Amino acid sequence: MERTFVMVKPDGVKRGLIGSIVTRFEQKGFLLIAMKLMSIDRTLAERHYGEHREKPFFGELVDFLTSGQVCAMVWEGPNAIANARGLIGSTNPAEASPGTIRADFALDISSNIVHGSDSLESAQREIGLFFDGAQPPGLLFRAASDGA
Ligand code: PPS
Repeated sequence: MERTFVMVKPDGVKRGLIGSIVTRFEQKGFLLIAMKLMSIDRTLAERHYGEHREKPFFGELVDFLTSGQVCAMVWEGPNAIANARGLIGSTNPAEASPGTIRADFALDISSNIVHGSDSLESAQREIGLFFDGAQPPGLLFRAASDGA
């Protein structure tokens, strides 16, 4: 079993797509471990996308992520990282396979609806960034004994 970090970005939240995205993960068979609606400050956005700091679109990426609320989630399942990225589809929605979230809901690479961790290391780092420490109001954690 593996856990991955998935985030509905501000465009997905504004367009009311959280439910559709959660449904796809549930239908695929993933187990929802944690979920919270939150605003991200620039410090957290810059840490989350730290590996892309030198990219020409880094500033735009941080502006975008801090432009509205996001829905941060942790999903569990076999090969969760690769399987989640399969559900999400290619970074550029124009190149994403039909049936993937980005192909079905997005048009533009700079507003591609959802993020999924790209490696085990990234998943652990991102889960730590977004779900570390005390559990604030609104943070749902599935009880360890809940085998649903
Ligand atoms: S790269 O260059 O291959 O490392 O980049 P990639 O992993 O594909 O993308 C890293 C994140 O940046 C987003 N991205 C962009 N945002 C705005 N404009 C452009 N041109 C652009 N290209 C990539 C991309 O969606 C990735 O964010 P996440 O949240 O991981 O999807």
